[in-house]
Parts: sequence; structure tokens; C-alpha cells
Amino acid sequence: MRYLDSQPILTTEAAIEMIDWLNGHFHDHQAMRWGITLKGQDAAIGTCGFHFWKPAYRRVDIGYDLQPPYWGQGYITEACRCLVRWCFENLNLHRVQADCTAGNIGSERVLEKLGFTLEGTWRESCFEHGRFVDIKQYGLLRREYLPDE
Ligand SMILES: CC(C)(COP(=O)(O)OP(=O)(O)OC[C@H]1O[C@@H](n2cnc3c(N)ncnc32)[C@H](O)[C@@H]1OP(=O)(O)O)[C@@H](O)C(=O)NCCC(=O)NCCS
Repeated sequence: MRYLDSQPILTTEAAIEMIDWLNGHFHDHQAMRWGITLKGQDAAIGTCGFHFWKPAYRRVDIGYDLQPPYWGQGYITEACRCLVRWCFENLNLHRVQADCTAGNIGSERVLEKLGFTLEGTWRESCFEHGRFVDIKQYGLLRREYLPDE
């Protein structure tokens, strides 16, 4: 949770609250979050999805997380590659964007590998775990993702 503006989910009640919150955004057509599993297994080892869907701007934000034992094996890059493709193909998007807290090197690297461009830094724009932090803004345009369209 070091680079997230939230606390660990430690109880069943907190997990249900999070699921209800995500389901609410799904029903409002604002967001969709998928569970990530290893092939042939049912247990979720992480999640990824989009939020802040703005059909008028043809834009979404994406987010992702993975349980630490599975880090560094390319799973999030693989999952988010599918996520980005799904978003462009199904939501008629012009742009997919993502932000991450400065210092979250793994997340920055994932976005770079997916072809996102670092567009700028929002200086001290979030308050996470007792301190103001810089937020790096990334974007991927439809013409960059589908140059032959
Ligand atoms: C961000 C997160 C999803 C990345 O997961 P992951 O399994 O490490 O991702 P991948 O293996 O697909 O790619 C990570 C890349 O970052 C690199 N990396 C990770 N930590 C690094 C570090 N401290 N310094 C340099 N490179 C680093 C890896 O080497 C890899 O790059 P490579 O393929 O060129 O070697 C994971 O760390 C996580 O769940 N963090 C907590 C939640 C979070 O921060 N979500 C994102 C919010 S913006």
C-alpha cells in the first residue's frame, strides 16, 4: 500500500465494502475491475481495471495491483496489455491514462512497457501515509496505440 492513498484491507467486512463500492461504479457505468488469476487456477492474485470512464471525452484511467509474492514476473504487464486493448476496442476511447506516485518504480516501468508517455508531474498533489507526494501522469492516445487505424 506504500504508494496508494488507502489502507490495507484486513477484515472480511472491509473486503465486502470494497467489492460493493466497485460493484456500484460498475452499475453506474464508470468502472470495471477484473480479478487476475494464474492460468488454470481460480484464486485471484491481483486486480486491474478502469475507472473514471468519461464517454464524452472518450477517456478512462486504469489501475492495477498484485500480491507481492507474484511481483517481478511480468504478470501485471501481461494483464494490463489485455486491459488496455479491451478498453480501446470496447469503449470507443481516444485516450487511456494512468497516474502513479513518484517512487513507485515498478508501476512506472509497467506503464513504460505498455507504451504510455510520461506527460508531467503533479507536484505534492496527494497526501499519502502522512506526507504530500508527487504524482506522475501518463497517457496513451488511440493513434499511438492503433497507428494504422
Ligand atoms: C506496481 C505493481 C503492480 C508492479 O507489479 P510487477 O509484477 O512488479 O510488474 P511487472 O513484473 O509486470 O513489471 C515490473 C517492472 O518494473 C521493474 N521494477 C520493479 N521494481 C523496480 C525497482 N525498484 N527498480 C527498478 N525497476 C523495478 C521490474 O524489473 C519490471 O521491469 P522489467 O520487465 O523491465 O524488468 C506491483 O508492484 C504492485 O502491486 N504494487 C502495489 C500496488 C500499486 O502500486 N499499484 C499501482 C498503483 S499506480
